[in-house]
Amino acid sequence: MDLKLSTLLCLTLLFSTILNPALSELCNPKDKKVLLQIKKAFNNPYVLSSWDPETDCCDWYSVTCDSTTNRVNSLTLFSGGLSGQIPTQVGDLPYLETLEFHKQPNLTGPIQPSIAKLKRLKELRLSWTNISGSVPDFLSQLKNLTFLELSFNNLTGSIPSSLSQLPNLDALHLDRNKLTGHIPKSFGEFHGSVPDLYLSHNQLSGNIPTSLAKLDFNRIDFSRNKLEGDASMIFGLNKTTQIVDLSRNLLEFNLSKVEFSKSLISLDLNHNKITGGIPVGLTQVDLQFLNVSYNRLCGQIPVGGKLQSFDSSTYFHNRCLCGAPLPSCK
Ligand SMILES: *[C@@H]1O[C@H](CO)[C@@H](O)[C@H](O)[C@H]1NC(C)=O
Ligand SMILES: *[C@@H]1O[C@H](CO)[C@@H](O)[C@H](O)[C@H]1NC(C)=O
Ligand SMILES: *[C@@H]1O[C@H](CO)[C@@H](O)[C@H](O)[C@H]1NC(C)=O
Ligand SMILES: *[C@@H]1O[C@H](CO)[C@@H](O)[C@H](O)[C@H]1NC(C)=O
Ligand SMILES: *[C@@H]1O[C@H](CO)[C@@H](O)[C@H](O)[C@H]1NC(C)=O
Ligand SMILES: *[C@@H]1O[C@H](CO)[C@@H](O)[C@H](O)[C@H]1NC(C)=O
Ligand SMILES: *[C@@H]1O[C@H](CO)[C@@H](O)[C@H](O)[C@H]1NC(C)=O
Repeated sequence: MDLKLSTLLCLTLLFSTILNPALSELCNPKDKKVLLQIKKAFNNPYVLSSWDPETDCCDWYSVTCDSTTNRVNSLTLFSGGLSGQIPTQVGDLPYLETLEFHKQPNLTGPIQPSIAKLKRLKELRLSWTNISGSVPDFLSQLKNLTFLELSFNNLTGSIPSSLSQLPNLDALHLDRNKLTGHIPKSFGEFHGSVPDLYLSHNQLSGNIPTSLAKLDFNRIDFSRNKLEGDASMIFGLNKTTQIVDLSRNLLEFNLSKVEFSKSLISLDLNHNKITGGIPVGLTQVDLQFLNVSYNRLCGQIPVGGKLQSFDSSTYFHNRCLCGAPLPSCK
């Protein structure tokens, strides 16, 4: 083709695209209508100024469309600029796979019930906001969820036991809220994948359910709650658990009797009421981090493995632990 002609063709195409967006618009009109309703419900905030009805919604800020269906599959609004409640209309984007409201301090109200309609949802992240109310039971209906993060909010009430019915969950983050009550017994019966469990910085109380002995979690963070009693069921020689943080609770059990798997990388038990001593088995574990400070441990720290590579703050403030890196036993 003649170079001039092809340039001309290109230019014509370019101008027609610019002048007549409808020609190249990929956005589904139903999705566009819903997004504009969401913008209106948020009172036309500055952050959504690119949401212009004259342009293709698949190009809008924070919106992406599926490359084959052109339906809106992701809405990720982070770093501020929104105020008010989550609009009910978010439930009217039926092809959404990712919904995220993150770092939105002026976002208030409950977790919008219409989210229950989003059956294709894989990732739901509502974090660092001021949303309040309870963790809703309906989340267990979103069977395709792999990632559920509700961290750093103002959520209250107890954790719904139905969340263990989510068959594909890889991670459950409910940390840094004001959740109360017990860890559900059902959490020992996750079907399908076993999620990483982040429940720290809440007001969870009572015993850790013994049912958790059956499960092989990869990461557990139950720190900064009011959990009591035994936690040994979390561990076990045959597990593949890597990271466990149970610090700053009221846990009370005999550490000497616990068997640790070789997979463990990081273990934080500081500020509890744990008795017994450091088990010799821990010398066999390739730990990168250990903190058992502020407990009621006694006896000699076994020599070997990584146990002497940590400084004294790993072990200090116990009843009568001794031996390197602490002063030697008398
Ligand atoms: C939250 O609202 C206040 C008061 O309207 C405003 O000054 C502030 O910038 C908002 N913050 C964000 C991150 O949107
Ligand atoms: C929630 O709102 C309070 C008061 O307006 C504010 O100080 C706080 O930073 C907000 N929380 C979050 C997580 O943004
Ligand atoms: C859930 O995901 C699977 C696999 O990606 C898909 O086939 C199925 O249609 C999804 N379910 C819903 C309700 O979208
Ligand atoms: C949380 O909710 C309480 C009561 O509803 C309110 O006083 C507080 O400002 C909210 N925000 C934070 C961050 O605690
Ligand atoms: C761990 O696995 C070994 C070998 O498969 C088995 O003999 C042993 O009973 C298991 N121990 C526990 C506590 O499940
Ligand atoms: C902890 O268990 C060990 C081993 O069974 C036992 O010798 C020790 O007396 C127990 N310590 C406490 C404080 O119960
Ligand atoms: C262990 O935890 C205590 C209490 O939080 C802290 O003071 C100390 O620095 C920690 N040590 C290590 C090695 O993490």
